[in-house]
Amino acid sequence: MSAPDNGLPANGNGAPRPVAIAVEQIWKRYGDFEAVKDVNFSVSEGEIFGLLGPNGAGKSTLIRMMTTLIPVTAGKAIVAGHDVSKDPDDVRQAIGVIPQALTSDQDLTLEENLSIYAKLYGVPREQRKKNIDAVLEAVDLTEWRDAQTKTLSGGMRRRLEIARGLVHNPRIFFLDEPTTGLDPVSRIAVWEMLNKLKTTRNLTMLLTTHYMDEADKLCDRIAIVDHGKLVALGTPVELKNSVAGANVVEVHFDRDDEAWPARLEAMEGVTSVQPEGAGFYRVITKSGSKTTMQIVELAASLGETLTSLSVQNTTLDDVFIHYTGRQLRDEQVKPVFTMPPRPGARP
Ligand SMILES: Nc1ncnc2c1ncn2[C@@H]1O[C@H](COP(=O)(O)OP(=O)(O)OP(=O)(O)O)[C@@H](O)[C@H]1O
Ligand SMILES: [Mg+2]
Repeated sequence: MSAPDNGLPANGNGAPRPVAIAVEQIWKRYGDFEAVKDVNFSVSEGEIFGLLGPNGAGKSTLIRMMTTLIPVTAGKAIVAGHDVSKDPDDVRQAIGVIPQALTSDQDLTLEENLSIYAKLYGVPREQRKKNIDAVLEAVDLTEWRDAQTKTLSGGMRRRLEIARGLVHNPRIFFLDEPTTGLDPVSRIAVWEMLNKLKTTRNLTMLLTTHYMDEADKLCDRIAIVDHGKLVALGTPVELKNSVAGANVVEVHFDRDDEAWPARLEAMEGVTSVQPEGAGFYRVITKSGSKTTMQIVELAASLGETLTSLSVQNTTLDDVFIHYTGRQLRDEQVKPVFTMPPRPGARP
């Protein structure tokens, strides 16, 4: 099954939206090591575009090339109409960047941190205060403007970094793992903030993540990267639909019957049936909803009773496994830490 094409999404009247970022056959080599290999994609204006991949996939390397921080080995990246290799200054003026590591100065106040960036980006003095007021408001930190940055929580610090990246009113915003290390509540707060910013500031956003739920909830389109290569690209729905046979229907018949596997296998869209014992079957199907209906109808026509029936829809985890052959590493598969037993404690 091929990945969905990377054609640009159309706007309401069917015309393609202008391109904000175009990456063409881009490569990055460090000596013999190929960190990014022949990657192509484009992001249209107003999109939230996600680069999803495990540690070491090449996400930060891609962002660093698109934001002029490291040279491109081969191929090109056009950002806001400018070639990153030929017109890096024009690119820098058009973009805001939130790097992977937190970089605001802990000993300065929020306003001081923002002011330094505004000056760096050449925001005129009379405009600076207005911009700082606006970005603090946008990330809900107005009341903290004179606090020292070290007094902020992790989530608030991320929001400050988001404000800092916006202080010169960029059109395109690059965020490298904006929520890594945040607690679930702060993560959702950051998602809501980014969604609001996208609309109110008419921003195009490119973010990296290794959280499936983040990519699913936040991104209009997702590119899955693995070992430096782009392995799939599409909207979350397109990606899920591109993985056939990934819906799982679990059914438990009150009365087991050796005819069930054949009956289930004969249903349209069913790709496999796994008997789990005592009338319980796992059915892999291309359409969970259709198969569920057919099972209910068949059971009713035979006068059989269902003890339970559940459908598990395709998730981005299934998509990732399908395209890369394995699960996302790191956070998702970290070993669980267990406390060592106290001396003398019973096992
Ligand atoms: N300066 C460098 N010199 C040599 N190799 C590098 C350099 N920077 C990155 N790499 C390698 O390139 C690969 C991609 O790294 P990159 O930081 O882009 O991954 P990533 O997808 O951002 O991972 P993470 O989720 O851990 O941030 C890794 O194998 C990394 O070790
Ligand atoms: Mg990274």
